[in-house]
Amino acid sequence: MCEQDVRAGNLKHFNFKAEDQSRSEGARTLRVSIPEVLEPQYGMYVWPCAVVLAQYVWHHKGALQQKSVLEIGAGVSLPGVVAGRCGARVILSDSAELPACLENCRRSCEVNGLRDVSVVGLTWGQVSPDLLILPALDIILGSDVFYEPEDFEDVLVTIFFLLRRNPQAQFWTTYQERSADWSIEALLHKWSLQCLHIPLESFHANKECLAGSNLPGSHTVHMIVITMRKQSGDT
Ligand SMILES: C[S@@+](CC[C@H](N)C(=O)[O-])C[C@H]1O[C@@H](n2cnc3c(N)ncnc32)[C@H](O)[C@@H]1O
Repeated sequence: MCEQDVRAGNLKHFNFKAEDQSRSEGARTLRVSIPEVLEPQYGMYVWPCAVVLAQYVWHHKGALQQKSVLEIGAGVSLPGVVAGRCGARVILSDSAELPACLENCRRSCEVNGLRDVSVVGLTWGQVSPDLLILPALDIILGSDVFYEPEDFEDVLVTIFFLLRRNPQAQFWTTYQERSADWSIEALLHKWSLQCLHIPLESFHANKECLAGSNLPGSHTVHMIVITMRKQSGDT
């Protein structure tokens, strides 16, 4: 039985719980509140993919302290906010052409007491001054950014650019299966990228209810980690 999404005003609450019962209560739970605006624009509310990616971030919280994390296409920014609350240095981004989405990123930080998070406009596929001045990154997050096939290559061009500058970095991303015909395999190959599929059960995300939210529901969500492809001769 799933606890229903809890709404108070326009806030949606998520309660992440660690499986490791040996930790103190404070280290075992995290409550994050996300302001939503119910408008028909993609970046205005939490998508099922965001809860799954946030659960992956929460599962790896021990490795996130002081890590430099960028979220792309962040919208209301649930995964980035969880990373920030777990001690990462976070930068949130959404399209430079969608100031309302950038405002959502800021509001999510405010509501969760994250004062040191920068918010920048990064449009996929564009090498802008804001992209060029990003600091060295450890992890890039992207939840439900592969939802429009005509944007797939732009997303991967941005990821290629960032991973080439930060060869050890990883792109943690979730996508929702919307059509059996859609694939990023050929584009990964074209841009010298490789991906690893992460089974949902390995981070306790194979459930219809996650973090007290029934958002994942019966949607088929996949978690993958994308890195630069090792070239022959690389050590
Ligand atoms: C399906 S929503 C996902 C939002 C959020 N990541 C989530 O999972 O809840 C897609 C997000 O990508 C952003 N977006 C759309 N086109 C973009 C572009 N060309 N460059 C950067 N962000 C874009 C939208 O504003 C929106 O926030």
